[in-house]
Amino acid sequence: MGKYWLAMGRDAGLVLGLDIGSSQIDAVIADVGHANEIIVRGVGRSMSNGLAKGKIVSQSELVVSIDRALKRAEREVGIRPRNIVISVPQYEMHFGYSSGLSIPRSAGGRITDEDKALAIHKSKKMIKATDQLILHAVPVEYLIDGVPIEDPLGKVGPSLEVTTHFVLANLQNVNALLQVTQQLQLHVAGMVYAPIAGAQMFLSTTERREGGVLIDIGARYTSVSFFKRDLLQSTFLVPVGGDMISMDLAQCLSVTLPEAERVKIKYGSVDVAQVAYRDKFEMSSLDRGRVEIKRQYMCKIIHARVEELFRIIGRRAGIGPEFPYDIVVSGGTSQINGIAALASRVLGHNVRVGPPGKDPAHQVHSRYGTALGLVSYGLKTGAIVPYETPPGFLARLNRKLSRWF
Ligand SMILES: Nc1ncnc2c1ncn2[C@@H]1O[C@H](COP(=O)(O)OP(=O)(O)OP(=O)(O)O)[C@@H](O)[C@H]1O
Ligand SMILES: [Mg+2]
Repeated sequence: MGKYWLAMGRDAGLVLGLDIGSSQIDAVIADVGHANEIIVRGVGRSMSNGLAKGKIVSQSELVVSIDRALKRAEREVGIRPRNIVISVPQYEMHFGYSSGLSIPRSAGGRITDEDKALAIHKSKKMIKATDQLILHAVPVEYLIDGVPIEDPLGKVGPSLEVTTHFVLANLQNVNALLQVTQQLQLHVAGMVYAPIAGAQMFLSTTERREGGVLIDIGARYTSVSFFKRDLLQSTFLVPVGGDMISMDLAQCLSVTLPEAERVKIKYGSVDVAQVAYRDKFEMSSLDRGRVEIKRQYMCKIIHARVEELFRIIGRRAGIGPEFPYDIVVSGGTSQINGIAALASRVLGHNVRVGPPGKDPAHQVHSRYGTALGLVSYGLKTGAIVPYETPPGFLARLNRKLSRWF
């Protein structure tokens, strides 16, 4: 087997994963190794400006924010890839199901890939999506003559029915995002619902195949996504995230939002019992200037909100001790100390935080898991294509690279 690079032309095979979150933008520049493994060449992060509750309200501000994250990632590589796989900001996302039917057309009624595609296409027609873009159409169940079957390819039957899970994004927002990428002269190879990307990194292959739930606690939203057969079976959003915790703190402690955010990250924990009673920290209060606050008091406020969040998730997802899937928590807010134990207790089920395994490389980049997952998903779906490099190209490339490292 020859050496594989991504087909990026002048970008020497590099590809960019760009996660547009409501609080921050993560960029990962990667290429692909011999065994199709992803090699991270640079990472960068910036505050995301130009978004209001996930809606793009200022393209120019978003351009500047993305550019800042890219510059940081580029510093290590010395080149800016043009081909990107991007996540869509979570604004007016909708999810739904519909079914479609096709009649196998081959002689003998054997089902082909075209029949599967036609059934999915028919199911799309049932979805009214005038101001929405279908981001993903996931075939979650096939039926041959009314009988469920995992993969109908090559089977014989009079009809093929599919149930398709749709992920829809606000069309105006997607168009605004595409205009932003155009202004940055980036070529969008793929657009992805962020949890699908996150699942490539935070769930193991077995968890994605046999059943796994990813709970991504971001700034504005918590997404809860169910994977099986390596497909997104269902997903829902809870409008609670780290921002709400900071707002609780700002209100209860009478501080500005940035100050609440600072003390949350520096002193926050949901393991209240482990915080010493006498433990205190200083902060700037709005009405009383510099004040000392009991850390336990603040942690109890955080605990209340996070506990409530997991209760909502448990109820909506029907999670309990008999729940058959692995449960994994990711996202910025998952870094709060003690969250795995709290989630496990509330859900009555073992919960892990972060990626599987203890591979240090995996852990190092777990903070960029969604952006990295975008690259991985782009490869998997063929949105970005590894190809065998023509002889001579690699030698030229290596000469170039040696100048950059
Ligand atoms: N160490 C930490 N402890 C507690 N909270 C943290 C920590 N680090 C980050 N956060 C919180 O995580 C949130 C950001 O998470 P993340 O980057 O996953 O969000 P996002 O992707 O920008 O948002 P969304 O997914 O909602 O669009 C912020 O609310 C931030 O305060
Ligand atoms: Mg996010």
